[in-house]
Amino acid sequence: MNPQAQYVLSGLRPTGRIHLGNYFGAIRNWVRLQDQYRSYCFIADWHALTSDYADPSNIRKATFDAVADLLAAGIDPEKATVFIQSEIKEHAELHLLLSMTTPLPWLERVPTFKDQQQQLQDKDLNTYGFLGYPLLQTADIIIYRANFVPVGEDQASHLELSREIVRRFNNFYGPVFPEPQPLFTETPKVPGLDGRKMSKSYGNTIGLTASADEIRALVMTMFTDPNRIRRKDPGNPDICNLFQFHKLMSPPETVTRVDHECRTAQIGCVDDKKLLAEIMIEQLRPIRERRERYDREPSYVWDVLREGNRKARERAGETLAMVRQAMKIDYPEFR
Ligand code: TRP
Repeated sequence: MNPQAQYVLSGLRPTGRIHLGNYFGAIRNWVRLQDQYRSYCFIADWHALTSDYADPSNIRKATFDAVADLLAAGIDPEKATVFIQSEIKEHAELHLLLSMTTPLPWLERVPTFKDQQQQLQDKDLNTYGFLGYPLLQTADIIIYRANFVPVGEDQASHLELSREIVRRFNNFYGPVFPEPQPLFTETPKVPGLDGRKMSKSYGNTIGLTASADEIRALVMTMFTDPNRIRRKDPGNPDICNLFQFHKLMSPPETVTRVDHECRTAQIGCVDDKKLLAEIMIEQLRPIRERRERYDREPSYVWDVLREGNRKARERAGETLAMVRQAMKIDYPEFR
């Protein structure tokens, strides 16, 4: 790693097992980034509480699962610092300090604030914590003085807010923080089993570490070209979900062959599903096997986190010392 390397921070809210949409949409890219940047990767368990405060019973397991899946996917603790947000108390102190300078309307106008309140009607999200979601996220980022954050479309407005908060801070107190830049990478659109975007809330996902039998069963339920009704009808791969997955996972010669044989009705959708399922099983095998190891030996995962937490705390502590000094809330007498 180049000693001048810049810092990248990637965060994930613990919502359970990682699925292929998360993997191809984000995680695979994080795995690449760990070779180019000083990479920090964490699970935002406090963020889970902003919406699930009434029933936090799943958060601990979802956090473990997310970390184990990240490691299985190729996040390498030798390269990336992997940690849990709530173990780095400095995030909370920085969040508090930033709350002093953040105008309320900046938070109220973040599009996800109103959107999520609308969409999750069964939860009361008119809380202080939920309003502060993007501010806590800002603290997560800038406490590592991160230069880059890989973001999807949905998070772009949060990062814009983070940049405004940084500018305001640096204006008042001096240049402590770099402005974090979004790292947009071209991410393929990953359809779910039903053709809508793959998402846990639609129940249309395939787990990154699904078993061979699960993969076979799930692929069988996938929607294909809706106009191909009979076996002898020629198909159109351009509007078939299966084909999207071939493009993501199959060797190029297979993609070409399937494209041809579907258009000429040489293979049917069921044949193609069987083929795709076997390819998927093979492609995901190393990931699945690593994950099985972590389930047999969860202490490995906790050990990785213990070390990651330690390293994260070190960097966060340095930043916070700078912040306290800049904000004149600093008592060297006690150190
Ligand atoms: N909001 C992100 C999500 O929904 C999780 C997150 C929290 C995050 N803090 C972050 C992402 C900081 C990047 C940087 O997944």
